[in-house]
Amino acid sequence: MRYSTSSLVSAALLMGQASAALPPIVMKGTKFFYENGTQFFMKGIAYQQEVAAGGASTGSTKYTDPLADAEICKRDVPLLQALGTNTIRTYAIDPTKNHDECMKLLDDAGIYVISDLSEPVLSINRDDPLWNTELYKRYTDVVDSLSKYSNVIGFFAGNEVTNNRTNTMASAYVKAAVRDTKAHIKNNVKRWMGVGYAANDDADIRTDMAHYFNCGDQESAIDYWGYNIYSWCGKSSMSESGYDKQVEFFSNYSVPVFFAEYGCNLPDGAEGRIWDETTALYSDEMTGVFSGGIVYMYFQEANDYGLVTVKNDEATTMKNYDALKTVMSSVAPSSTAMDSYQPTNSPAACPPISNTWKVKGNALPPTPDTSLCDCMFNSISCGPSSSLKETEFGDIFGFICGESPEACAGINRNTTTGVYGAYSMCSAKQQLGYVLDQYYKSQNSASGACDFDGKAEVKSSSVGNGCQEKLESASAANSVAATATGLDGAASTGGASNGTDENAAPSFTQGPLMRRLFAFGGLEVGLYMAVALFTGVTMLVL
Ligand SMILES: *[C@@H]1O[C@H](CO)[C@@H](O)[C@H](O)[C@H]1NC(C)=O
Ligand SMILES: *[C@@H]1O[C@H](CO)[C@@H](O)[C@H](O)[C@H]1NC(C)=O
Ligand SMILES: *[C@@H]1O[C@H](CO)[C@@H](O)[C@H](O)[C@H]1NC(C)=O
Ligand SMILES: *[C@@H]1O[C@H](CO)[C@@H](O)[C@H](O)[C@H]1NC(C)=O
Ligand SMILES: *[C@@H]1O[C@H](CO)[C@@H](O)[C@H](O)[C@H]1NC(C)=O
Repeated sequence: MRYSTSSLVSAALLMGQASAALPPIVMKGTKFFYENGTQFFMKGIAYQQEVAAGGASTGSTKYTDPLADAEICKRDVPLLQALGTNTIRTYAIDPTKNHDECMKLLDDAGIYVISDLSEPVLSINRDDPLWNTELYKRYTDVVDSLSKYSNVIGFFAGNEVTNNRTNTMASAYVKAAVRDTKAHIKNNVKRWMGVGYAANDDADIRTDMAHYFNCGDQESAIDYWGYNIYSWCGKSSMSESGYDKQVEFFSNYSVPVFFAEYGCNLPDGAEGRIWDETTALYSDEMTGVFSGGIVYMYFQEANDYGLVTVKNDEATTMKNYDALKTVMSSVAPSSTAMDSYQPTNSPAACPPISNTWKVKGNALPPTPDTSLCDCMFNSISCGPSSSLKETEFGDIFGFICGESPEACAGINRNTTTGVYGAYSMCSAKQQLGYVLDQYYKSQNSASGACDFDGKAEVKSSSVGNGCQEKLESASAANSVAATATGLDGAASTGGASNGTDENAAPSFTQGPLMRRLFAFGGLEVGLYMAVALFTGVTMLVL
């Protein structure tokens, strides 16, 4: 078969992204580089509608994928380019949509993308953190949909998830997401793409946070640290803004650091912004340690942080857009060549447990594994009845884990001890099945032990192909988890525990306990509900 030159050319054009112009960004030590060895400083703009500073949702659970509508990209990309932008940050893209046209427009304009992996509904919730099969699918779907574009630098596994001393536990789940996303990239993408974290700046936890995400096994550690920082407002200085302290602190850090959001709008709102901090960010005082930053944000919205107003699909640049353009065109960060750069910093030590830090160093929640969860669910002899609603799960979890704590070792999670049940990453329904089955077996499969007023039912158990080994190793892990949480004694009695067992106490000593009477199958039994403490109960809130 013969191909004419023109058909080869159009085939190449159709392949589109394969012939993308922009060289991928790589990382070495604490710096980013183009492949040719020239250092890369991020000159970024946050580009997503209806995402409040810090990535907070504006109340809507719907999101607009900023890379899915070519008409909008045609309107905005030239304005980004004219501003001297070389990177945009997107907060939520839809992996089911096609991004070819927008990515090509950005590529042609010399603009890279760094994207958050979550979306408003599927994200790690600081008040009820999880890293489960559903989130894993969302994160890896986003990676798969963007990894084909050479102008994607990488991702954020979380944005201000832990934001103060009360919710440091959530960081364990974000770091597990970092580990698993990095592994997914390593196994599926043929080039380097980074996975980092975007943090707020909270005095109580900033040191522990930065160290935690950088410490330990580097396969689980972040590739870069993004700071959402608004401490330089209007006329300020390195010392007044605390930028000098950041430079000092991160001079020891072993991976790149940049501002994942900046652009304080005080004292005069977005239009009052004069961008002195931009000049500082690309000056010699900072470029040795910081790799640039991302201005928050492109769209002018109610929170008044915009550079551009959009009305009736028309974009109009604002005064502070022009101010930023002038400053951007005048900065000239002095760079280091990749070849001559020899990194010297090493990863931090993991922070110890303290009053303000509740996550054990190197012990992470398990990698979500849908096939293991399916194997387990198929292997149980007692499970939720088909009509059971998710809102009813909490009562059953509460009852069984109260009566028979060892039945729940396989789904429990504890960030301070670093003990996680092997099934703690399964869906709520699968976890309920596991717990019901454990309870049923602990009652020697007594006929009444799998009923719960019709909420549970006996099922035929089957161990699918390739399941045996997985189940055995999960079961071994769960025995270790039970031992580590002091539940093994109870488990080894083999009989029913009645909730007064001393070994059961640790799981229920924290938080308010409510003892209620519930009728199950005509029998009155004590129902322990550990409110907001208990996995199963809090899961319902999602
Ligand atoms: C390396 O590539 C970048 C981006 O294409 C370019 O701006 C820079 O001039 C190149 N450096 C060298 C030394 O060719
Ligand atoms: C911590 O953050 C949460 C969520 O943003 C907030 O509700 C809480 O008041 C904060 N607590 C402290 C002590 O700052
Ligand atoms: C940087 O590391 C050195 C050596 O470990 C240590 O002495 C110094 O205090 C660190 N500086 C900062 C700002 O953390
Ligand atoms: C985690 O385990 C520790 C030690 O057993 C215990 O004090 C703490 O209450 C547990 N935390 C949770 C959230 O269960
Ligand atoms: C309940 O638990 C206590 C403490 O482990 C034990 O002494 C007692 O025999 C148990 N009662 C029943 C009915 O299992």
